[in-house]
Amino acid sequence: MTILATGCAGFIGSNFVHTWLEQTDEPIVNVDKLTYAGNLSNLKTVMNDARHTFVHADLANREVMDELLKVHRPRAIINFAAESHVDRSIHSPIEFLQTNILGTFHLLEAARDYRSTLQTEEASAFRFLHVSTDEVYGSLSPSEPGFDELHRYEPNSPYSASKASSDHLVRAWHHTYGLPTLTTNCSNNYGPFHFPEKLIPLVIHNALSLKPLPIYGDGQQIRDWLYVKDHCEAIMTVLSKGTPGEVYNIGGNQEKTNLEVVKTICAKLDALRPKTNGGSYAEQITFVKDRAGHDRRYAIDASKIKSTLGWTPKEDFASGIEKTIAWYLDHPEWVESVVSGAYKDWVQTQYSERTGS
Ligand code: NAD
Ligand code: DAU
Repeated sequence: MTILATGCAGFIGSNFVHTWLEQTDEPIVNVDKLTYAGNLSNLKTVMNDARHTFVHADLANREVMDELLKVHRPRAIINFAAESHVDRSIHSPIEFLQTNILGTFHLLEAARDYRSTLQTEEASAFRFLHVSTDEVYGSLSPSEPGFDELHRYEPNSPYSASKASSDHLVRAWHHTYGLPTLTTNCSNNYGPFHFPEKLIPLVIHNALSLKPLPIYGDGQQIRDWLYVKDHCEAIMTVLSKGTPGEVYNIGGNQEKTNLEVVKTICAKLDALRPKTNGGSYAEQITFVKDRAGHDRRYAIDASKIKSTLGWTPKEDFASGIEKTIAWYLDHPEWVESVVSGAYKDWVQTQYSERTGS
């Protein structure tokens, strides 16, 4: 048995590969286009693991995807690949439409064709798991309950609109063509290998580099934070126990304002890596112009995945942020190579012979 996953050189996907290989011997084929967010050094420790095959390709490339499905005959496809950063989607939406909407369409079609070649038993066991976001549901007021799976779709950014479109395609491919799909909508992740354009890794990096810590608007926006390994285990649970056609919301039940998150990181760094001038990293906090269309609050009601599949997160924000900060302090070379762009050279020199294989 084998699974094929897209976008596993990125943040969540690479954590998924590590979690998968820690918990199972089943091979995983990892198809990634290596955009700016794809970093093969996230997978350094598994590049020589026979259970992990890396393929450098765009998920929208039907020729390559058809061939990979034919050769590897996976029992499931997990679609992590996406353009994922809201701020980038505001500046340049086109790539979001191309990968998140059209890319998902091409992958669904490749999966449908491939499944039609399987024997009845294999075809009914086949799964297409689409990894999506809570942002498709829009923004909550302070007193509203968290998003459940029936919450109406109200995406507000080009990113969330593109993910919402992809979710609708997945739903339609199930209803119209009978593809056994699973969709997961998750809250904000954090942990190792998180690209330092996103709030938590950016703040850790800027704090240690003695740079400003930019807070958009008043910093009172709320996110529901989930440690990335918990997300990976939730996906594994949905893959093995989820019912085709169903949607599962995944969250950490850890709502924090952005200002609270940044102040927590500063306090931890003050203790672990005190500034030589005796001051606090919190003095670097700088309020900057707000993000256009900034959603005020996200929160997930994760009761369905808990009651039907038995998944709950292992980490709360206090334990998860501790692990995350420890990882960044232990891996300064990883952050430096991303910030300097050297990770791209490293990929070229170390792994060019593997691409397209
Ligand atoms: P990321 O930006 O870190 O990684 C995305 C990966 O996809 C990169 O390796 C990139 O090279 C690859 N990719 C992009 N376009 C591709 C294409 N056309 N073909 C093949 N590969 C391509 O993103 P992430 O934070 O790891 O998010 C992974 C998935 O999880 C996304 O679908 C995202 O919408 C979803 N999600 C993320 C979060 C979060 O907090 N980061 C929360 C909920 C859901
Ligand atoms: O909710 C799930 C989503 O979480 C995922 O679908 C996205 O792929 C992922 O990027 C993330 O989106 P956010 O926009 O919530 O994450 P980001 O880290 O960009 O921002 C978190 C919050 O912090 C948000 O309210 C904006 C704010 N922010 C962000 C940055 C980068 C700042 O105040 N300053 C910053 O410099």
